[in-house]
Amino acid sequence: MSCTIVVGAQWGDEGKGKIIDILAQDIDIIVRYQGGNNAGHTVVVGDREFILHLVPSGILHKGKLCVIGNGLVIDPLALLNEISMLRKKGIKVDGNLLISQAAHVIFPYHKIIDKRRGAKIGTTGRGIGPCYVDKMARCGIRMIDLVNRDLLKRKLKANLEDSVEFDFEKIYRMYLNYGRRLKGYLADVSLVLNRAIDKNKKILFEGAQGTLLDIDHGTYPYVTSSSATAGGALTGTGVGPTKISKVIGVVKAYTTRVGEGPFPTEFNKSLMEKIRCKGKEFGATTGRPRRCGWFDALIVRHAVGVNGLTEVAVTKLDVLDEMKDIKICIGYKYKGKIYEDFPADIDVLYNGKPLYEEHKGWLQDTGSVTRYRDLPKKARAYLERLAEITKVKIGMVSVGSKRNQAFRIS
Ligand code: GDP
Ligand code: IMO
Ligand code: MG
Repeated sequence: MSCTIVVGAQWGDEGKGKIIDILAQDIDIIVRYQGGNNAGHTVVVGDREFILHLVPSGILHKGKLCVIGNGLVIDPLALLNEISMLRKKGIKVDGNLLISQAAHVIFPYHKIIDKRRGAKIGTTGRGIGPCYVDKMARCGIRMIDLVNRDLLKRKLKANLEDSVEFDFEKIYRMYLNYGRRLKGYLADVSLVLNRAIDKNKKILFEGAQGTLLDIDHGTYPYVTSSSATAGGALTGTGVGPTKISKVIGVVKAYTTRVGEGPFPTEFNKSLMEKIRCKGKEFGATTGRPRRCGWFDALIVRHAVGVNGLTEVAVTKLDVLDEMKDIKICIGYKYKGKIYEDFPADIDVLYNGKPLYEEHKGWLQDTGSVTRYRDLPKKARAYLERLAEITKVKIGMVSVGSKRNQAFRIS
């Protein structure tokens, strides 16, 4: 069996794009399974930077099949624009991309509702949540419906029934046109993947967002609206759990989050600016500054559990190179009680005092290190402590945004 799931183990932006790009070298098929163009996965190839929102991060390798699963919500215009951006940059998309017929479609009204109601969550405003609402309410429109004129008309009419705000004819024509342009990519993704598995092809499932943004296992309600954890890879593609051999978590050497919601280890202003600047912590989708904080072991241990992680890839270790002291959060104290496991109670997350253990920084540049044993001793000690406290093996370490700035630990 050679199916691997890659998931974000924190609040997203852990560097999944970079890790997937590296792993994709030895893989046949790369599949996105949830979310939509709220994701922004950065891959740096030489001196070119690509930010992928819907197309899997394997597309930059020649001859890899990239698949968009049924668990996604797709803004067709955003997808067409991304395909055209890739083509302009000389990346071959046709013949290498498949889109699930059963993925749901984002309409202009979803984006408007999201912008109105999503502010207190700090959503990306891409219409993700409202589109999943329609999916669950069983009035959603799927990719396959865009190529069925009558069905699309009936469904869209029903959805816009009482609306004076939207011009039915205009939206109908626009989406029929998107359907025409995307028709050639549509496929039964479950069938394609299961047949590939039967032929011993290697598949990589590319998670978007992160465990703490998962609708069930995240910091609800400050989450996204999909199953960003490993389970989502199964329901979001139609591949069964017996086919999965590995689940890799991507973990930043510290913590970031974008948008609202609790963040126990968030830095004070001066540290925030220092790390944000060194780590270039600005959103790949919305450009918003990311909130930054210390590594939180409770969060990552929670991710190890709910995803069944077999190993983690630690990214952005280099961002801590200039820190004299580095902290790891090992618990929260709230109303006299000490929490050592990630609590579901949002009050504990908002008001609990983080308990830290302190480590001395290595104060050396790690960006050019290519082997684990060449890392400064204190950097190795930090990583070893992270592995010990989160109860997971570290399989890879990343020390820069470039392809060659990462190494495996055997
Ligand atoms: P994703 O959403 O998980 O794919 O992550 P993003 O692409 O949104 O954000 C990660 C950012 O960190 C991108 O700008 C990457 O180029 C960059 N990055 C990835 N790994 C490293 C690393 O090890 N060190 C540094 N300095 N940057 C990294
Ligand atoms: P990648 O895949 C970081 C956050 C938003 C907001 C919350 C809900 O690049 O790691 P949504 O628009 O999804 O309804 O917003 O989730 N969010 C992300 N944060 N990385 C992402 O994706 C994110 N996708 C959504 O900022 O707090
Ligand atoms: Mg991102």
